[in-house]
Amino acid sequence: MSGGLTMDRESPLSGLDATLEQSIGHVNLHYRAGDGVAAAKLLEVLGLIKTEEMPLPNGTMFFRFTTNRHDLDRGDGIVYLGQLPDALAGVYAAVHARLGLGTADEHPSVAALRAAQARDPEHNFHTGFLMNTLEQIEARMAELKRLEQTNPAFQERLQFLVNRAMPGNAAFDARLDASPLYRGITRYTFGRNGVQAFVATDLFVSGPLGEGLVFELDYVLPGERQHILSRTELTR
Ligand SMILES: [Fe+2]
Repeated sequence: MSGGLTMDRESPLSGLDATLEQSIGHVNLHYRAGDGVAAAKLLEVLGLIKTEEMPLPNGTMFFRFTTNRHDLDRGDGIVYLGQLPDALAGVYAAVHARLGLGTADEHPSVAALRAAQARDPEHNFHTGFLMNTLEQIEARMAELKRLEQTNPAFQERLQFLVNRAMPGNAAFDARLDASPLYRGITRYTFGRNGVQAFVATDLFVSGPLGEGLVFELDYVLPGERQHILSRTELTR
């Protein structure tokens, strides 16, 4: 990389950059009316810790979750979850009406977006969590599949997809062959030494149509400098 503010000695930021420590602090997500409890449960199955569950004056629930199991009050690793505000819901309704969603006159861009999303769950805005073991991903995806099959709040609300590591590491390849989640999978990550698991759900509202959100669980092999989250490779 070259250029940019960090290379500009005249910039008032040049001295500050050297001392900056920064992390991704939080994301703010929305559920539709009636879906709050299920949306919150899904985040917990993905591994997040619920630290707040607060009724708001308008009668909706607001939640705070953290990835920091051992430091719940930290200012990063946070997911906030609230009900879709009326103003946003109004825009989505207008977008749906103007694009003719679900009608014979549906704008062709909608089908194109759906096809692109079906090919690649990372096509649109999505949220990824890095997990410390492959077993965590296997167990949590299995639990989500169980909920999808047995719990009415989740039935037909979750879709699953995984990307297996590019072949090349014999031990890792053998581990994935033995995995109920990755055995026989021929979709591959954009890179090596890692795997991805996706759950797409309309329990959350995001994207240009407000129809759903994709969550991603990632695992990378410890000790490998180059992996799916360190360098993107055009593997397909
Ligand atoms: Fe991603």
